[in-house]
Amino acid sequence: MENTLHIIAVWTHILGIALFVGPQFFLAFAWVPAARMIPDQRVRAQLTRTLTRRFGWIGGIGLVLIVLAGGYLIGNWRKYYAQPDDLSFTEIRYGVIFIVKMTLLLVMLAIVGLHTFMVGPRLADAIDAEVAGTGTAEETRRARMLSMLFSISGLVLALAIMVLGVMMNTTKFSFQ
Ligand code: HEM
Repeated sequence: MENTLHIIAVWTHILGIALFVGPQFFLAFAWVPAARMIPDQRVRAQLTRTLTRRFGWIGGIGLVLIVLAGGYLIGNWRKYYAQPDDLSFTEIRYGVIFIVKMTLLLVMLAIVGLHTFMVGPRLADAIDAEVAGTGTAEETRRARMLSMLFSISGLVLALAIMVLGVMMNTTKFSFQ
């Protein structure tokens, strides 16, 4: 039973990661270059808004799955790996890596949150303003660069957090 729950939790954790990280790759490396082929700025902006909103939902659900499954895994690590009660969490790499992972997670969440609720909408507004003739191409370019910076930083952090997760799971290494 314990193994079954562990397998379900790891599967849910990985499914959540796929849902959270996958759309970020798609948007950056598939949608952005494809969207450049749409000559009408207004249509491009509308499609980007719809896509990013949908992906926001998918990524948000992914994040909920990650946290629920991750919470189960960390809540049961001692029992699952049959570690004694007097072993302190930070005495082994597993605990130290987890703390680093949670710190990076907080930084990543701040970046993703700022991107989703501030930098992204500002870019959309800049594009709208440029189309309406009230904003300049330079303002749009600056908003786009900032948005790209936030996307790339969030993605790099997510990939680093994945490495830390796999390091924890490699118990011959992490239980030292
Ligand atoms: C509240 C947030 C999180 C918690 C509590 C958590 C907890 C854990 C724990 C305890 C493990 C080790 C499982 C084991 O010992 O078998 C793990 C593995 C892992 N985590 Fe997380 N995690 C969280 C967020 C994340 C995020 C945001 C990512 C990536 C974007 C991530 C990626 C991974 C990966 C790739 C593994 C290895 C899975 C495997 O191959 O077994 N985790 N996580």
